[in-house]
Amino acid sequence: MTSRRNPVPPAAADDVADPVPGSSAHAQPTLEGEHAAEHEPDRTLPVMSDRPVDPSRADDDVQYEAGLRPRTLDGYIGQDRVRANMQVSIAAAKGRGEALDHVLLYGPPGLGKTTLAYVIGNELGVPVRATAGPVIERPGDLAAILTNLAEREVLFIDEIHRMPPAIEEILYPAMEDFELDIVIGQGPGARSVKVPLQPFTLIGATTRAGLLTSPLRARFGIVHRLDFYQEGDIEEIVRRSARILGVAIDDAAARELARRSRGTPRIANRLLRRVRDYAQVRADGAITQEVARAALHLLEVDDQGFDDIDRRLLRTIIEKFNGGPVGISSIAAAVSEERDTIEDIYEPFLIQVGFLDRTPRGRVATARAYQYFGLDVPGRDQRLW
Ligand code: ADE
Repeated sequence: MTSRRNPVPPAAADDVADPVPGSSAHAQPTLEGEHAAEHEPDRTLPVMSDRPVDPSRADDDVQYEAGLRPRTLDGYIGQDRVRANMQVSIAAAKGRGEALDHVLLYGPPGLGKTTLAYVIGNELGVPVRATAGPVIERPGDLAAILTNLAEREVLFIDEIHRMPPAIEEILYPAMEDFELDIVIGQGPGARSVKVPLQPFTLIGATTRAGLLTSPLRARFGIVHRLDFYQEGDIEEIVRRSARILGVAIDDAAARELARRSRGTPRIANRLLRRVRDYAQVRADGAITQEVARAALHLLEVDDQGFDDIDRRLLRTIIEKFNGGPVGISSIAAAVSEERDTIEDIYEPFLIQVGFLDRTPRGRVATARAYQYFGLDVPGRDQRLW
């Protein structure tokens, strides 16, 4: 390998990341500083939210997540299909001494796309240079990043669907032929120059695979969707994170937290930190089921992992729109939230747990949603009229 920078150090034997925020092995120098993107005022990047079950990355998640991230595929819990496939792809690329094919990871926020990108980099033994679609503003920004990549290094672009079109076009020859097409000058005197790049791996992450243009999507050789986690996997993540944070948690409490974490590791880790605070202040520091329940009650996260916004959304569909079908724009107006936020952040989990249906005619509250509020489930005929 001809890396100009230090490769990622080998993973710790037990795969437990460094618990000190910011000191993880992933804190590699980046062209723009690691996670430079996370300081931009952008909806897709850390958000200010007082919602404990918001799956978007909040400011204070950033420092903790780095310390809680697994470093190896073996240490990565859940997503078994993706993990098994990545294991084969990585071993094959390493065996051939080639750069790994470009990888597209998509799925709802908080499920570990960034974590997986760093795991892949670590498994390949190369640094990960991280940026995000909305922060690459000029073609020159991306050209600078690409020309600085060493052989087989990983470039991670979060929210890749939000890259401006003019910048996206630079990626096509870069991904396909490891080459930049640069136009020098203007008008009749303009000419095109090809700049060779080192073979590299692009890992793109997006919550909206449907918004990716087809030429971009077609250039990813490996495409994986991350799904909501099984409760048992979240429970294991909670226990692992508690171990790293040095807080005692019993099995019933880990289960309680897992059940309310919406199948999302980011939420599980965030709830764990809040419950840890509660255990320290209102109990003896250990997280028992009783402590967990009391803390989650105080946070207003219910048994299903729903909070006030979920309930408001469902109630609005039931009460104002007769249970649906209703268009997303009408729902957005009624609850005073942005349409994209509802589609990206709130809806996926409500659909996953079967409280909401997305039909061609609009959103529909399901029988389970009615039952949750203790309401009679309307018959089909009532729904129609
Ligand atoms: N932290 C966040 N996601 C994780 C995962 N999938 N496995 C282990 N720890 C995690």
